[in-house]
Amino acid sequence: MAKTSRIPGFYKLSPEERLRIVADFAGLTDEEVALLKNTGSLELTLADRMIENVIGVMHIPLGVAVNFLINGRDYMVPMAIEEPSVVAAASNAARIARVKGGFQASTTKPIMIGQIQLVKVPDPYGARYTILAHKDEILEKANEQDPILVKLGGGAKDLEVRVIDTDVGPMVITHLLVDVKDAMGANAVNTMAEAVAPMIEKLTGGKVYLRIVSNLAVYRLARARAVFDKEALGGEEAVEGIIYAYNFAKSDPFRCATHNKGIMNGIIAVALATGNDTRALESGAHAYAARTGKYQPLTTWEVNEDGDLVGTIEIPLAVGIIGGATRSNPLARVCLKILGVKTASELAEVMASVGLAQNLAALRALATEGIQRGHMKLHARNIAIMAGATGRLIDEVARRMVEERKIRIDRAKEILEELLKEK
Ligand code: MEV
Repeated sequence: MAKTSRIPGFYKLSPEERLRIVADFAGLTDEEVALLKNTGSLELTLADRMIENVIGVMHIPLGVAVNFLINGRDYMVPMAIEEPSVVAAASNAARIARVKGGFQASTTKPIMIGQIQLVKVPDPYGARYTILAHKDEILEKANEQDPILVKLGGGAKDLEVRVIDTDVGPMVITHLLVDVKDAMGANAVNTMAEAVAPMIEKLTGGKVYLRIVSNLAVYRLARARAVFDKEALGGEEAVEGIIYAYNFAKSDPFRCATHNKGIMNGIIAVALATGNDTRALESGAHAYAARTGKYQPLTTWEVNEDGDLVGTIEIPLAVGIIGGATRSNPLARVCLKILGVKTASELAEVMASVGLAQNLAALRALATEGIQRGHMKLHARNIAIMAGATGRLIDEVARRMVEERKIRIDRAKEILEELLKEK
């Protein structure tokens, strides 16, 4: 029987019970389970090899979003994030999406852009012609740098050459289009860009300065779509509120920044859990959102003929499942195993779906009861724990603080004392 990620009441279990379910779902080994249990799992010696001047390891909670059905397959989605409510919101939206069949997701090929900046050419369009006329040689030189990638069917596939105007004169910008397969790709692309730069200088007589990947990965897009049942969303008014919220973001960059931030809450949490470059994803997403010159939402929301809500997302997602921290961080490897993705494109499809779910959850909460009630509940639990509450008392102290609308450590301590006396 196919495994399901639909696990009612998952949030009510203890971390140990949840881990048992996840371990069973993903077939984790005892070592992998031990790694997750041992919250200090990134050893200092390993961390010391990952970056410079290491003095310690920073911890962030790792949760698992449930209920995700994507292209007919169930996923448990590891999310590393410090913000409360994000994992719960994603799971909730994924549960609603299941009513109408879950998410459909797809990707373009994993093509990254390497930029080579050429300056000091008197005839920029002539230089552009020359570079394009030598495309085959340039691609060959690029591909010599990464025979393994080429063997896997990837490598430099095409060239684009743009002439741009700048304050210091025209520049000829060559784009090396590289299929990076299952890698994030920055390393492969940067190596290739550096390798072909002398060739471009020689061909044109100009001077190359920058040779670097572009994080605006317009050829590496992930898309997802889901239909959200109107009744499951809370009825027509909720649907209408979400449409109004979306149109607010479409017409106002101040709102749109927050709208897209909510989407990235989910995407970045999965990226962090799987050892991917979160900054590359952020910059790519927001640059893509502004590609028309007007900053726009990364999602769209419409109502279909049944009155249900149809959401889509389109976003550049340069993520890998090989290389970098995806391999060097043992926890990232375990998270990839929990996800069970076979390719970087599949990981991007999951992340796009999570982004769409996250946006739906945020808009629904904002357009109905607001987000503070949910946030306050979690916040109150944290305060109760800080005040010394344990076990069942955590929820009781939190509940009373929310009821009284006094979520403060001094009040938590008072309530805790009263409860302990009553015992
Ligand atoms: C908070 O981290 C994210 C939200 O602000 C997103 C949104 O407003 O759409 C709730």
